[in-house]
Amino acid sequence: MTTMDPIERDEQARSILRGNDRGSYTVPTAGLYPYQWNWDSAFSAWGIATFDPDRAWTEVETLMSGQWPSGMVPHILFHKPDPGYFPGPEVWGADHGPIPSSGISQPPVAATLIREIHKRDADDKRLRTLFPKLKAWHAWFMNWRSDKGAIFITHPWEPGRDNAPDWDAAMAAIDPVGVGEYARRDTSHVDPSMRPTKEEYDRYVWLVQHGRRLGWDEAAMAKDRPLAVADPTMTFILLRANRDLAHFADVLGEDRTEIDGWIETLEAGAKRLWNAELAAFDAIDLATGEHTGNVSNASFLCWYAGLDEPQMLAHLETTFEACRYPVPSHPVGTPKFDARRYWRGPTWAFMNSMIGRGLAEMGHRTQADRLRLATRDLIGEHGFAEYFDPLTGAPAGGGMFSWTAAVWLAWASPSAEVA
Ligand code: SER
Repeated sequence: MTTMDPIERDEQARSILRGNDRGSYTVPTAGLYPYQWNWDSAFSAWGIATFDPDRAWTEVETLMSGQWPSGMVPHILFHKPDPGYFPGPEVWGADHGPIPSSGISQPPVAATLIREIHKRDADDKRLRTLFPKLKAWHAWFMNWRSDKGAIFITHPWEPGRDNAPDWDAAMAAIDPVGVGEYARRDTSHVDPSMRPTKEEYDRYVWLVQHGRRLGWDEAAMAKDRPLAVADPTMTFILLRANRDLAHFADVLGEDRTEIDGWIETLEAGAKRLWNAELAAFDAIDLATGEHTGNVSNASFLCWYAGLDEPQMLAHLETTFEACRYPVPSHPVGTPKFDARRYWRGPTWAFMNSMIGRGLAEMGHRTQADRLRLATRDLIGEHGFAEYFDPLTGAPAGGGMFSWTAAVWLAWASPSAEVA
């Protein structure tokens, strides 16, 4: 294992972002994910802002240009057909927006990362154009995904943590009857042992078919939900995003009253995710009202959301002790831990960036520095993989990955300007 010179890593990271640039948007990685993914794109913009702020603004403008009239911003924008990905636009059947897309959204990290772009290039004109779009998107979450401030998911692709154990019980309750034959493409790009199982994919596809049958009409879907799990990823990220949106309202001289109301609601919702038995933030299956019993890397987004919790620091210490490259997506040594299988164990550098920034902002400097340095070692030694084995650092999933490159440039590299 050799550690690459950080300057060389900086150059590689820029070259990955340039290589994944498709003109006005950035793909997560060629082959495995050939379209514009919502939160990947926002992270890419953060990294691109370190060397080309104008292009970073364009990235988020392209993302928001796919917004549906409802305010929803899709999780995938299918700008150009690509047979290398399944399920494509013909499976989603979601033609509600200006660009062919999926029918679900993804964690709204954009406002928070746009704030980072704006710090480098305070273009209030561009911010002013984006502000009402971001606000309409956040309003969509508050209208359609809020259970008294706990934001729930209706598909495991919404929180982006596809096969996290958090949804195991809710997924097991789905009978994917009639899902039919389909050909996965992900396993032709990546070792199947690093990807979700067929049982999970059957349910992912069945849920897409279900949404399509209901015309992706949120009112109709609200009356017929096969899956609803209140989720720390969505709740913490939307809470944080609203704090940044409120800041934009101040910068632009806009009214922030409604946003402040959302913040209050989300703070109350976030508290509901506290599992006293586990002494941790944890998802809740809304079908049963039960906590799901998982301390995931999303549980550690509490500080990013502006919520301090000493018991979460104790859990963090445990993850630091359990592996060389924290934060694992599922606790090391537990029955469901699987070091290389996507969201059932691997460490994700972009999640670390949110956890680390949150820790620093809440004054937990020692832990923040420790996590940043561990992430620097991880990428320095093992490159720009999609995710990593938390025990050995072995790269897993796709390679030449945009958000890993972006997080390196904006946060993990010695050259990053970190507050
Ligand atoms: N993460 C999903 C996939 O792997 C879709 O967003 O294809």
